[in-house]
Amino acid sequence: MKTVTTIAALRAWRATQTGDVGCVPTMGYLHEGHIALVTRARAENAQVVTTLFVNPTQFGPHEDLARYPRDLARDQALLHAAGCDLLFTPTAAEMYPAGHATVVDVGALSAPLEGERRPGHFRGVATVVLKLFGLVQPTRAYFGQKDAQQLAVVRRLVADLDVPVEIVGCPIVRAEDGLALSSRNVYLSGAERAAAPVLYRALQDARTAWETGERDPGRLRERLLERLSREPLADVDYASVVDPLTFEAPKATLTSVLLVLAVRFGSTRLIDNLLLTTA
Ligand code: PAJ
Repeated sequence: MKTVTTIAALRAWRATQTGDVGCVPTMGYLHEGHIALVTRARAENAQVVTTLFVNPTQFGPHEDLARYPRDLARDQALLHAAGCDLLFTPTAAEMYPAGHATVVDVGALSAPLEGERRPGHFRGVATVVLKLFGLVQPTRAYFGQKDAQQLAVVRRLVADLDVPVEIVGCPIVRAEDGLALSSRNVYLSGAERAAAPVLYRALQDARTAWETGERDPGRLRERLLERLSREPLADVDYASVVDPLTFEAPKATLTSVLLVLAVRFGSTRLIDNLLLTTA
């Protein structure tokens, strides 16, 4: 696997490729969730590019940009083992040189939930993802359902701006106890890590209710909150039942709803979600 840090080197490599290119955008500190995306990309493309860039524009002023975990050598070893061909890991100055001014705003989809709690977050994500697509020029790009709203934002962006890339959504990879894998899990204390699977359990409780015929979004939400409230270390940011296409409150009886959670454990904020559909 080759590692490049400059746009010039990435473009030079890209110019030599004639087959399909799969791209996996990441912020590094990789885990099995990221590697599952690389493995899928490996299976479907002639070449696989992973990008590793802790994008400053998607972090709020009081968020964890400075302490975001990093381990390049370990990430390189994991990517090499997963069959990645090229790692692009630019500096912030390479991505945002002086004078950089253009941003991408995807509109209503970026307003609720994560967008409301993290103002400017999706503008940062959409802008960097569009830049990465322009640089890598992938045939396909792979994103996790773990960040469900981000995946929807990327699909919207690609559709609206006619970006010639196929977006592939991939299932959430979880630890054995149900906790969705996340680079941020490393921040959790022992007690917080032990408490964190309550997100998954809350989602499962609501799923059980759904499977026994519950269709009322308010009552599904109560099932989430009931379970979460029993965990003293869990500080709920939001627990919502939304339309999976708009991320707004479901308007009518839907055949599918998305359960979305954001919960703090100490200073660590975890997100998770589950799509419920009628069989
Ligand atoms: P990051 O948090 O590193 O995640 C990179 C990709 O891995 C995202 O598509 C995310 O949804 C996926 N992912 C993370 N945990 C996962 C899990 N447990 N199972 C499946 N997929 C998982 O998301 C970002 O970086 C950034 O916002 C980025 C898109 C790179 C733009 O900066």
